[in-house]
Amino acid sequence: MMDRENNRAAQRASEAAVQRCIEPACGALYGIRERLYVCARCNGPLEIECRLGTSEDAAQLSKKWEVRLASPDARDRSGVWRYRELLPFEEGVPIVTLAEGNTPVYDAPLSAQYCGLPALRLKHQGCNPTGSFKDAGMTAAVTQAVLLGARTVACASTGNTAASLAAYAARAGLQCAVLVPTGQITAAKLAQSIDYGAVICEIEGNFDDCMRLIQEVSDDPSIYMANSINPFRIEGQKTVAFELMQQCQWRVPDHIVVPGGNMGNSSALGKGFGELRGLGLIQRLPKISIVQAEGAAPLARLFAGLDARRAVPLPDSLVPVENPQTLATAIKIGSPVSWKKALRAVLESSGQVLTVSEQEIADAKAMVGRDGIGCEPASATTVAGIRKLTATGHIRREESVVAILTGHMLKDPDYVNQYHRGTLPLGSTTHGPATAPRIAGAFRNVPKQVAATKSAILECLQRQE
Ligand SMILES: Cc1ncc(COP(=O)(O)O)c(C=O)c1O
Repeated sequence: MMDRENNRAAQRASEAAVQRCIEPACGALYGIRERLYVCARCNGPLEIECRLGTSEDAAQLSKKWEVRLASPDARDRSGVWRYRELLPFEEGVPIVTLAEGNTPVYDAPLSAQYCGLPALRLKHQGCNPTGSFKDAGMTAAVTQAVLLGARTVACASTGNTAASLAAYAARAGLQCAVLVPTGQITAAKLAQSIDYGAVICEIEGNFDDCMRLIQEVSDDPSIYMANSINPFRIEGQKTVAFELMQQCQWRVPDHIVVPGGNMGNSSALGKGFGELRGLGLIQRLPKISIVQAEGAAPLARLFAGLDARRAVPLPDSLVPVENPQTLATAIKIGSPVSWKKALRAVLESSGQVLTVSEQEIADAKAMVGRDGIGCEPASATTVAGIRKLTATGHIRREESVVAILTGHMLKDPDYVNQYHRGTLPLGSTTHGPATAPRIAGAFRNVPKQVAATKSAILECLQRQE
């Protein structure tokens, strides 16, 4: 029995990719097509380890990726599968793709000025097929679901994961089940899941309750869970680092700043940049910083109490926020499942974890809008966070900074309208009582009632100059 186990371990160690438990005291290895979300031995987080080649191979790789930009092959048109040499799938497997990725990197001069910087770049993951960064992960997770023969894919969601999974499940012809907290996700996100044909289970409770439930439900062998605790999600999402570096012509930005909710995104970026450095495609890591909303900031709280230089090994536990609150509903999460991987990415790269207020998020979001870009509230934590990091000297004026915008502006139009009309309540819900304190929008743009005449319109324009 022991021999068989040892043989299996030896075989895994020689495979091109394996699943490995990240807990240093465990480190168990599993085959790449074993259906697992956490370590079967110690319950620790799993990570996929792709055996990387040498730096000589790396030079070939980057050339190959460059050539693929002009290829009509569906795998090359995808900003995820273009980098398939670093993904844990055999060449030629049938992939489930919506031509995800290929998202722009914008210069944002007004947002830069707002942050106290001469320049700022925004990589807009909201330009993905379903309007959020989740698509980069979902193409990999749903491809794996098909390979495993799953009938149903499922997730807990604050809205975007559900929309993304529902779309990819529809492409794959799989049933999709999404667990969302009743009344806490935006109408636009819910509409997407409805349209893509998902079974939508509205749960009394918050996202953390949905997350706990989905882990129970996905014990059922017919159901494959696609939350970012699933390491295949992270594999897809790590390619954002590859695409970004290709777009930056392999010049590493000094800082990458991301919002933090369940922490899959920050974990994936950490992994992606780590792999590029391992391959010799980049020589150093960007500092990865995570920004949380003040009312939903368990990792920022943990980070504040750490001596970052001595945080090895990583802390064993994180104290959840029991009743997380923020108008940025995408990151209204008190007990992030991937906090350990995310914290590791921050510490390895000497980044920060910080919080921003509702007012700061709202004004930063309006500023991104003024640059003609727009984003959803959770994404704007990045710009608000960069402003703070610049003010505290963690980001210096001469340093290069990229913020990852995670969701499209049209994901939450109610928030936009309320901010600009001065009715956005400071409380936890956008439907608070009329007397609730409001966000005092510094950059409001209030629609005007104008008479239906040429002169009234011209007069209105003149008044605004
Ligand atoms: C728009 C948006 N931004 C940020 C996040 C947080 O990402 P993560 O959970 O990977 O930390 C989410 C998660 O749902 C999101 O939808």
